[in-house]
Amino acid sequence: MIRFTTLGLAAALALGHFATGASAAEEGGGHGAAPTRQSWSFAGPFGKFDQAQLQRGFQVFREVCSNCHSARNLTFRNLAEEGGPRFSEAQVKTLAAEYKIQDGPDDQGKMFERAGRPADRFPWNYPNAEAAKATLGALPPDLSVMAKARSYSRGFPMFLLDAVIQYQEHGVDYIYALLNGYSNPKDVNHNDYFPGGKIGMAKPLSDGQVEYTDGTPKTVPQYARDVASFLMWMAEPKLEERKQTGFKVMVFLIIFAGLLYFTKKKVWADAH
Ligand code: HEC
Repeated sequence: MIRFTTLGLAAALALGHFATGASAAEEGGGHGAAPTRQSWSFAGPFGKFDQAQLQRGFQVFREVCSNCHSARNLTFRNLAEEGGPRFSEAQVKTLAAEYKIQDGPDDQGKMFERAGRPADRFPWNYPNAEAAKATLGALPPDLSVMAKARSYSRGFPMFLLDAVIQYQEHGVDYIYALLNGYSNPKDVNHNDYFPGGKIGMAKPLSDGQVEYTDGTPKTVPQYARDVASFLMWMAEPKLEERKQTGFKVMVFLIIFAGLLYFTKKKVWADAH
């Protein structure tokens, strides 16, 4: 009996492990329209990022979003890491060198600028939050963990069901919906999905704005999809690893349960 209780507990823990991403679902709330659930390559227990999509998403982030938003947790070399966009080391080096990074103080006590290196953090266009706010009218939030920080409530009983069906993409679905949610061409600040319907970010994307070189359609929905995936990777760069571990744990538990069953049979075989 004890053995089976232990097994049950272990199984519950493993399920919890899969479901951790879903806990964000209960936060947030807000009263924008409910985003539609999208299908993503990284969803489900075998989910994986689409490398080409992450590369395009980075391009959109870099050329559009990073004009206003920071991504404090991102260092250039992350872009070459496994499970991410996997740019080559050489590409990352070239990319980093295109940015000016403030460094110092030097031996005269002065700050100075130098070309970026792969170990540097992705720099923000603004020296501080006040400067960004003064220029843009509202503070653009840091995008490092945005895909996990934002969510929306699906209410009872959906949030319980989400844990079971392993729906963990509320944040990305919200970002995708938000970027596509500028439904009033006369009002660039109207957004169907932003709580209150008015957002301080004017419609940031338009068709043809980012030059894709791989033949992918240059449309707002496509840009939104790609950049949302990229934000998901930034928020959880170890997503693939987590899912693989979860799967191994489940396989282990199944084998372990089988072994316990046969052990029990053998141990009790002679007891009459
Ligand atoms: C011109 C500047 C600018 C650009 C470009 C821009 N944003 Fe924003 N963004 C803002 C500002 C300002 C806010 C804060 C709006 C507010 O609080 O009303 C914001 C808010 C957001 C939010 C948070 C919404 C929420 O629920 O609070 C997300 C997500 C977001 N931006 C994503 C993006 C993405 C992705 C891109 C690139 C495709 C992008 N932004 C491009 C200025 C910008």
